[in-house]
Amino acid sequence: MTQEVCTKPHTLAVYPGTFDPITMGHLDIINRALNLFDHVIIAIAINPGKTPLFTLDERIEMIKQCFPADESRIEVAAVSGLLVNYAMQRGAKAIIRGLRAVSDFDYEFQLALMNRKLERDVDTLFLMPAFRWIFISSSIIKDAARHGGDVSELVPAHVNKLLIDAFSS
Ligand code: COA
Repeated sequence: MTQEVCTKPHTLAVYPGTFDPITMGHLDIINRALNLFDHVIIAIAINPGKTPLFTLDERIEMIKQCFPADESRIEVAAVSGLLVNYAMQRGAKAIIRGLRAVSDFDYEFQLALMNRKLERDVDTLFLMPAFRWIFISSSIIKDAARHGGDVSELVPAHVNKLLIDAFSS
């Protein structure tokens, strides 16, 4: 029996978030998304409910540094306005969100359904990070770092350094 080769069309997904800062959990989700899509845009979106520690430019730079310069399947972008409009403009088929625990579900479900209401052609895809990243968030990492805690296993090395610098002044 001959095996058919599936030639999927070029696929693109948008992974949005505040990324203040990017964590090992975010990187885990990005790597999983890269197994499913040809290209992933990491979209730093404005969330009015948050006051970031790092500026937009700092967050863009720290995310770019997570990937080798020749990683052509990743793009980092700042996004203002509706995320689904951006996804449509870019021809993205999906928005990626990480689901860590049941507590994420209500908010994520609401967000996904509202996004679908606004734009039915873009779906939300939920990915689960590895178990060891289930309990982290950017806020809890900042809180630990602010009080001198060692978060070096939870963020990339350059982000750890930036956190130490931010809280040592
Ligand atoms: N590992 C570690 N932490 C993770 C994670 C993972 N895999 N997945 C999520 N998190 C954490 C984040 O660090 C963040 O933690 P924090 O609250 O301590 O900062 C938290 O989970 C969720 O935040 P994040 O994923 O960054 O999303 P957000 O809720 O800050 O942002 C947007 C949501 C940006 C996607 C949303 O506001 C948006 O789409 N904005 C654009 C405007 C728009 O279109 N709005 C929608 C209208 S319905």
